[in-house]
Amino acid sequence: MKRVLSLILKLLCMAGIVFSAPSWGQQISIIPVPVVLKPGIGQFHLTTETIISVPANQVEMARIADYLVAKLKPATGYAMPIAYQAEGNIQLGIDPKYNLAIGNEGYTLNVTDKGVLILGNTPAGVFYGVQSLLQLLPAQIECHQVIKGIDWIIPAVAIQDFPRFAWRGLMLDVSRHFFSKEYVKSYIDQMARYKFNRFHWHLTDDEGWRIQIKSYPRLTSVGAWRVPRDGAYGNAHPPEPGEEATYGGFYTQEDIKEVVQFAKDRFIEVLPEVDIPGHSMAALAAYPELSVTKNPDIKVNPGSNFATWFGNGKFEMHIDNTLNPTDENVYVFLDKVFTEISRLFPFEYIHIGGDECYKGYWERDPGVQTFMKKNKIRDDADLQAYFNKKVSAIIVSKKKKLMGWDEILEGGAPASAAVMSWHGVSSGEEATKLKHSVVMSPAPLYYLDMMQGDPAVEARVYGKARLRDVYEFEILSSGMDSSYVLGGQANLWTEQITNPGKAEYMTYPRALAVSETLWSRKGAKQWSGFVARVEGQFKRLDQAGVNYSASMFDPVISIRMESGKLLLDLNNEVDGLDTHYTLDNSIPDKFSAIYTHPITLSQEVVNLRLITFRGEKPVGRLISLTRAEMEKRTGSKK
Ligand code: ACM
Repeated sequence: MKRVLSLILKLLCMAGIVFSAPSWGQQISIIPVPVVLKPGIGQFHLTTETIISVPANQVEMARIADYLVAKLKPATGYAMPIAYQAEGNIQLGIDPKYNLAIGNEGYTLNVTDKGVLILGNTPAGVFYGVQSLLQLLPAQIECHQVIKGIDWIIPAVAIQDFPRFAWRGLMLDVSRHFFSKEYVKSYIDQMARYKFNRFHWHLTDDEGWRIQIKSYPRLTSVGAWRVPRDGAYGNAHPPEPGEEATYGGFYTQEDIKEVVQFAKDRFIEVLPEVDIPGHSMAALAAYPELSVTKNPDIKVNPGSNFATWFGNGKFEMHIDNTLNPTDENVYVFLDKVFTEISRLFPFEYIHIGGDECYKGYWERDPGVQTFMKKNKIRDDADLQAYFNKKVSAIIVSKKKKLMGWDEILEGGAPASAAVMSWHGVSSGEEATKLKHSVVMSPAPLYYLDMMQGDPAVEARVYGKARLRDVYEFEILSSGMDSSYVLGGQANLWTEQITNPGKAEYMTYPRALAVSETLWSRKGAKQWSGFVARVEGQFKRLDQAGVNYSASMFDPVISIRMESGKLLLDLNNEVDGLDTHYTLDNSIPDKFSAIYTHPITLSQEVVNLRLITFRGEKPVGRLISLTRAEMEKRTGSKK
């Protein structure tokens, strides 16, 4: 299998040579777009003679040089020796006097025909300069195998660059589906290309507990495994009595340390999340005594639907998945868990979830009610606030800061808590008014599990987030005190994401839009320029063997009913494309009709098919809509 994969990769890389434009005069497609980029005259050629130099005795700088060599060597096959102190052709250094114009994470990158100079005020800045340098090289530099016949040109430029926000994050949910340590590292490696600096690791949920906790071995011996099920999340048949739980996995503490170090080498902090007091079914499968119901038969959820959502933000859980906030043993448990977690993760924050906590079992439990009366706790929102306060004290005792989803504001969040805002923009506004630090990750646009194209060609999920909408979204609003906004983050929930290929398909290119919002100047956003650069990045991702979605080439399809007739309206978000369509069930080709204006579909039309082309080349996917589906979209049929 490995040999087949390596052959496929080699063929892909070779195809890159054949199909790519000559690298001389290549278009500059850096994402996120730098603050200042002035093209120069000429170019620098990477050759077998090229030497990289870093200052002597600076461990972090030496690591960056090693990283750069590891990125340049596979495709070029060049030795790329590193010189310490001596002058190389690619020089990496710390600015001798602090460059006020670029701040802590900024860099300057100058390329001339003589060489490359990257300077930062910190190693992080230099690392981001290295990312821009890599993006200046031909796309084939991403190839994992030596490829011959490429002129490894770096166009002359002068770049001065620095980020808009300090928090630039992506979240990966490894509970709903487990992703191997190797894949998590690869996900982080891809993040680094686009100057993300926070990896939020959603480690626990109803569908699996993924981190080894030595004081509570059943969290992983039981909580990391569930019965195997195929099919869409929400439809899985619940576990049968006696059925073996064989699907899942977890990270040992050694794995965690390895991932944290890997991220650190890329200037990415890892934010661990243990989602409590709700979303705890996997923990309760291991230790049922931690809930009020203490159900000894509770199992890790295999993707069954166990909740009713009433559509107004209210819901009911038919299985108790919450910790008991009135039981001191729960806090003993959490103290031990967070002791181990705080030792594994050097980052200043620990995320405690706090979202979607169903309180019905608390309300129905006489012991909880007596406790509330005795402690003058007015309602169940106050009870969760009581829980958060106790957990915050635990987190602070480990010299960490607490972060939670915006539900921690209900009933009042501990003053020092930071809020991750996912209920649109409004919860961010509320949190900043209450003087909490905030990370903006609003659904649906910053939820990478949403569909990014037409539902006819995407795995069905409950909402949409098209690339253009994600790109044009601004995370700050006039109702926020922006001095409290740390930055933003996009979240990949994995209920429907069963493997790495799907994870990448959902992440890219929307993560590119997010990275540009979080790094580049606000006024620099320009959709058509972004699209051109995304296409440049697609070539790089192809070479790197990373999956992505090309859904931006598909039109936005609107169908409405007018005077009893179906009216079709298409909108291409990318300029210079033609959507060819058929109404006779045939597959559209370059000779088929081109959509130019809204069309009425007569009763005889039973199937609409369309494909978008650039010139003679199809770039979009085949989208087929039956009449029944079209009528359903107008709301005229169920
Ligand atoms: C969330 O989406 N429940 C944070």
